[in-house]
Amino acid sequence: MCRREADTADSNMDISKGREVLPKNVKPLHYNVTLEPNFETFKYDGTVEIELDVVKDTTSISLNALEIDIKETKITSGSNVISSSPTLSHDEDSQTTKIEFNQTIPAGSKATLTHKFVGSLNDNMAGFYRSSYKAKDGGEGWIATTQMEPTDCRRAFPCFDEPALKATFTVTLIADDKMTCLSNMDVAGEKQVDSAYGGKRKAVTFNKTPLMSTYLVAFIVGELQVLESKNFRVPVRVFCTPDKDISHGKFSVELAAQTLAFYEKQFASEFPLPKMDMVAIPDFSAGAMENWGLVTYRVVDLLLDENNVSASTKQRVAEVVQHELAHQWFGNLVTMDFWDGLWLNEGFATWMSWYSCNVFYPEWKVWEGYVTDNLQSALGLDSLRSSHPIEVPVKRADEINQIFDAISYSKGSCVLRMISKYLGEDIFLEGIRRYLKKHAYGNTTTGDLWASLSDASGKDVERVADIWTKNVGFPVVTVTEDAKNSTIHVKQNRFLRTADVKPEEDKTLFPVFLGLRTKNGIDESLTLNKREDDFKVPDLDFFKLNADHSGIYRTLYAAERLQKLGQNAKAGLLSVEDRAGMIADAGALSAAGYQKTDGLLSLLKSFDTEPDFVVWDEITARVGAVRAAWTFEDNKIKDALKAFQRDLVSHKSHQVGWEFSDKDGHIEQQFKALLFGTAASAGDEKTKKAAFEMFEKFVSGDRAALHPNLRGSVYAVVLQYGGKKEYDALVKEYETANSSDERNAALRSLGRARDPELIQRTLAYSLNKHVKEQDIYLPLAGLRAHREGIEAFWAWMKENWDTLKQKMPPSFTLLGSVVSMATSSFTKEKQLKDVEAFFEGKSTKGFDRNLAQSFDAVRAKIGWLERDAGDVERWLREEKYL
Ligand code: BES
Ligand code: ZN
Repeated sequence: MCRREADTADSNMDISKGREVLPKNVKPLHYNVTLEPNFETFKYDGTVEIELDVVKDTTSISLNALEIDIKETKITSGSNVISSSPTLSHDEDSQTTKIEFNQTIPAGSKATLTHKFVGSLNDNMAGFYRSSYKAKDGGEGWIATTQMEPTDCRRAFPCFDEPALKATFTVTLIADDKMTCLSNMDVAGEKQVDSAYGGKRKAVTFNKTPLMSTYLVAFIVGELQVLESKNFRVPVRVFCTPDKDISHGKFSVELAAQTLAFYEKQFASEFPLPKMDMVAIPDFSAGAMENWGLVTYRVVDLLLDENNVSASTKQRVAEVVQHELAHQWFGNLVTMDFWDGLWLNEGFATWMSWYSCNVFYPEWKVWEGYVTDNLQSALGLDSLRSSHPIEVPVKRADEINQIFDAISYSKGSCVLRMISKYLGEDIFLEGIRRYLKKHAYGNTTTGDLWASLSDASGKDVERVADIWTKNVGFPVVTVTEDAKNSTIHVKQNRFLRTADVKPEEDKTLFPVFLGLRTKNGIDESLTLNKREDDFKVPDLDFFKLNADHSGIYRTLYAAERLQKLGQNAKAGLLSVEDRAGMIADAGALSAAGYQKTDGLLSLLKSFDTEPDFVVWDEITARVGAVRAAWTFEDNKIKDALKAFQRDLVSHKSHQVGWEFSDKDGHIEQQFKALLFGTAASAGDEKTKKAAFEMFEKFVSGDRAALHPNLRGSVYAVVLQYGGKKEYDALVKEYETANSSDERNAALRSLGRARDPELIQRTLAYSLNKHVKEQDIYLPLAGLRAHREGIEAFWAWMKENWDTLKQKMPPSFTLLGSVVSMATSSFTKEKQLKDVEAFFEGKSTKGFDRNLAQSFDAVRAKIGWLERDAGDVERWLREEKYL
């Protein structure tokens, strides 16, 4: 299509950005949506009336629709019927329906487009879909619910499905009296109407919403239980299906009430809706969804039993609730202009959930864990050539799903964390307040955020921030020392895990905040703005860059300096973030060939007296990464690495034990669980024996014998070292346990079993009727822990590709995750070739990014082994593990 043509009202191209968007001849102002789901046929009858502003003379209207059967269409303007039988044409590829008519509606007038249609309550967890639960009578109960983000509102009803086309919505739901009907707003009124399926039913009409984007529209019909908190200005409620225990919503509903009050203050902006509902949905593809006033969740991310929950699950629920509520302002009130600004939504909600969790639960010290969590996810993915800039051009609907990834969430939040430290958190939040006030009910681009932050701080934020969002990757900063002049020389280069940076890939010069820590404290003022530079250090005896790892880079020190930092750590000169971050850097730099892996192993070994959980979390993760890369090496080397892990953690685990009391803090609980799990899985006899003993008691009915903090580890260990008996017990546990948290722990463990027959059972079980599609990845995940599992998983995926594709269509993220899981654990060229050959000639649309990332990750491991397998073997021999 030529460019000039693209500017006509009829085209689907936005000339400025090459985006495939709707023509701009009309603009939606208001939607009246009426829907009547039928729980026998699983169809729904719908009517949508869209009031439009006619911007240009109009003879056709294009809007989005997908898998909707439009029965009648009418266009009116004022009292004129423009057409009651216009010509409709549907374009499957762009998911648009075009309505053409003979009369011209002149620019400046208003028009109303009405569609009557029939849709189906699908099983894809997208649009208006059905979700099932076990009803009281033993049969299947159903609810109808929605998931619109990013581009599935068009599956629920015909609409102008772009984030910048904000409108108001009046929703009406028609259902049986026993059904609870929910939508974004509170109920305006209820009356009896004639049902489309015969007889009378109630029609529940909700109040008109404020101006909002289509991806945030939500409605739910089902028999639901409810729990309400009155501890906020407006009602806050949790809902779940009849099979769940509604009292498990207590933690979330109270946290939500308090969080809303906190956010109103922090954002200096009242929550604009009359209520906040949060609903646990039995079938849900993401973790949760921030629909304005009607947030939907996976059951495990909303409900928890406070008497039977692990510390980490509780923290996850708090994180999810606070994340979705942050979106109520950041995302819902102020919305990105288009999907390339997705990071604004997700990066900010991620940062804000950490910020508020730290305020609500200071004893959890969540910012320490940020360094091993979000920072490492961001640097991990962004060290691949197939990564992408935070602000990524997205042109088409089918490209959008794939950017809900660690770059948008984790790197996005890392940039905000970096900026918030640069400006100071108070000034940063002042900037956020100005941004929300200025753009309320509107749409923004990244530049608008920088402008408000500049406005609040008087600093040129765009200058330091823009480079981070517009470019892919991050630097490795190499430090060399000049003792004579007491200076350090620092140089930045692009970091790639595959260690094969080409000159043209190393052009970006990032503004690197050096965060120089010395005995005098932290010097936050030093910035490396060019390729390389010298900096004075008061005393070279002790220094470290990137204090608290608030910068987005890895630091490469000389081997002696790294050793010295190890001693500094012991001497208490480094923060938890410093220690964990430094280990993470050493791990990543070794894997990429900047340092030697034997040096990494020595460094890890020297941390044996480390007292902190977060640091151990990183230590064990890095040992795990070495072991994973060595999965397909000789057994004697693998056993030696396993013995090293055992030596590293067993003593410490025996010391802290695996008993829990009320006195244990949140972090201590996780620490005990981590040490126990890593010791036992590495074959430590004492913890292994304890695991089997607890499990025996547990399966014979003494459920208190197994503490929730240990559940996951114990299951994994008894399957790793046990057999069919344990496997059967865990399948039974999955099928019968009460809470979703308990059931998930069992399901997640199945892949740990190594017996070929059990592996086959796990693979088959993932597609079994007991496992919801949302959970398919859970049994599969554990298979990656062992060679036999990795090989069988891939073979099975090849054999069952058509079934899998059908169960998890590529437009949803699940297939992409499963493809990643099945392919990224390989470490050999031959395996890579096989994956390549399999996908050759097949469409990889919808998961091409996942696949490219897998290839990169495997290539990186191939290189790592080539470089360092010999060194590692030598080190293991020297340390008497061989
Ligand atoms: N907006 C997302 C939900 C979403 C994800 C919609 C992908 C469409 C595609 C929501 O705010 C979110 O980020 N949920 C996270 C949980 C959060 C705590 C990181 C999720 O679903 O995992
Ligand atoms: Zn989010």
